[in-house]
Amino acid sequence: MIGTPVYLETFGCQMNELDSELVRGQLTRVGYRMVEQPEDAQVILFNTCSVREHAESKAYSRIGLIGMRKAAGEKLLLGVIGCMAERDGVDMLRRFPQVDVMCGPGELDRLPALLDAARRSEAASQAERVALAGNRTRRSAVLSAVQDDLETLDLSRAFDPAIAGRLRHTAQVRITRGCNKFCTYCVVPNTRGAEVHRPPDSVVDECRQLADAGAIEVTLLGQTVNHYRYEHGAAITVQGREAPQVGPGLAAFRKAIPAGSRVTTFARLLQRIHDEVPAIQRLRFVTSYPRDFGRDVLEVMRDCPRICRYLHAPAQSGSDRILGFMNRGYTRGQYEAFVASVFEILPDATLAGDMIVGFPGETDADFEATCDLVRSLPFKNNFIFKYSPRPGTTAITRFPDDVPEEVKRWRNNQLLAVQTQTSERVHAAWVGRTVPVLIEEVFAEMPAPPHQASRVELKWNNRLATPTRRAMRGHTPGDLIVALDAPPNMQAESMIGRVVQVRLESASALLLNGKCIQTGAETVQTAD
Ligand code: 5AD
Ligand code: SF4
Repeated sequence: MIGTPVYLETFGCQMNELDSELVRGQLTRVGYRMVEQPEDAQVILFNTCSVREHAESKAYSRIGLIGMRKAAGEKLLLGVIGCMAERDGVDMLRRFPQVDVMCGPGELDRLPALLDAARRSEAASQAERVALAGNRTRRSAVLSAVQDDLETLDLSRAFDPAIAGRLRHTAQVRITRGCNKFCTYCVVPNTRGAEVHRPPDSVVDECRQLADAGAIEVTLLGQTVNHYRYEHGAAITVQGREAPQVGPGLAAFRKAIPAGSRVTTFARLLQRIHDEVPAIQRLRFVTSYPRDFGRDVLEVMRDCPRICRYLHAPAQSGSDRILGFMNRGYTRGQYEAFVASVFEILPDATLAGDMIVGFPGETDADFEATCDLVRSLPFKNNFIFKYSPRPGTTAITRFPDDVPEEVKRWRNNQLLAVQTQTSERVHAAWVGRTVPVLIEEVFAEMPAPPHQASRVELKWNNRLATPTRRAMRGHTPGDLIVALDAPPNMQAESMIGRVVQVRLESASALLLNGKCIQTGAETVQTAD
């Protein structure tokens, strides 16, 4: 196995990106070699996403291509990991015989053993090649999460950038896995299982080790990150350490914490990381569920200068009727009240979200309510999705997918146009301020093409032209994207991973342009 080349491709969300990073570290440690191109690999892994049909179709077509290579005689091993494996179950093996190994997102610690079995013997049994949580995904809600082996994957994380294979300026740390919410359109509670919270000490240790490895920005991950809650003394400890713990259920957020119980709330966790790992200059978190977002969290954000005042809190719709069908658990008025409390406590916060258009039963009036919400609240950006019926969800059985595809497409474009205006407005309000920017990449800006150039000329012009400007791109603590020139006498490439002070000079819907006025280190978040 030593040196066997592996190609790993990731589809979908940040949680999958993190899983892929952990899988890369795990496979490298047992002797595999990660490669950048599928052509160079003997083992091909797809870390898949089931949230929308589009993501699944892309993965299926990639699986099909690998099948063709195998049929042509190439000796390859194909593994499908992540949510599609979990959702399709062993049915996928029947429909796609080219798939050798399947591993759900809750079983990734078993991946090396599965690959090993499949590599050693083509006749390896299904049990040796497939690891899925199956109905255990939700059954684990009533089991002790002590039996939760996946924790070992998070705990055994590779902090060596050479193994993790990525720049270490920004890093992600999972605090909660799974989801207890059951929005009617969403597969996540089925594929990722019940909410499980990691012990705070493990999270703080991981943040510290990432900071030691050079991370200056850490993003805490969870499907409903603000539901984080760890009750000390409730889960059995393993070798003196606290173990992950199943979430308490949504009702817990309505009640005060009982006297005498020792609980680490999300606010307390943020405070601990902020205070105990000062080398992290930026601490942020995604995704927030707009209900149950305590004032205590906003107050900690206000009082801790290194916690980014950035919230990704999806509204999903502006219509109460649709929010009800979605089982989101809040009304538009409650969402607006939540946003008002955010800006009351954090006046310079930035807000982002997700919206779904074309949910079953969405009328023109419902859609207009969503547009109105995007017009009236200061969303820096919204990810906009067309509703995609997903097998296994409540919506697919309860609500016919009755909004025609053209209408979904039209509403998608329309809402994008409304969001563009809102983004322009939000960005324009930042012009004139000075903000810290973490430089992420260098890009070349090409000269504008001649007015009536044909497509071919355009291509040639761009290829032959010398860039007019080598600019850098980065982001503020509030995740505003900023483009700027390298200061005179500084190599743009050498600025990557640094935090510089930038005066914002102009804005568009997508980004802000600014001028670097100081290249020193960022310590506190002042203007952003
Ligand atoms: N169809 C369309 N969008 C969806 N999302 C989740 N499930 C679906 C679905 N079935 C969107 C939601 C969520 C984001 C991650 O994906 O907006 O916040
Ligand atoms: Fe899915 Fe809703 Fe859970 Fe988000 S909160 S992961 S949309 S079920």
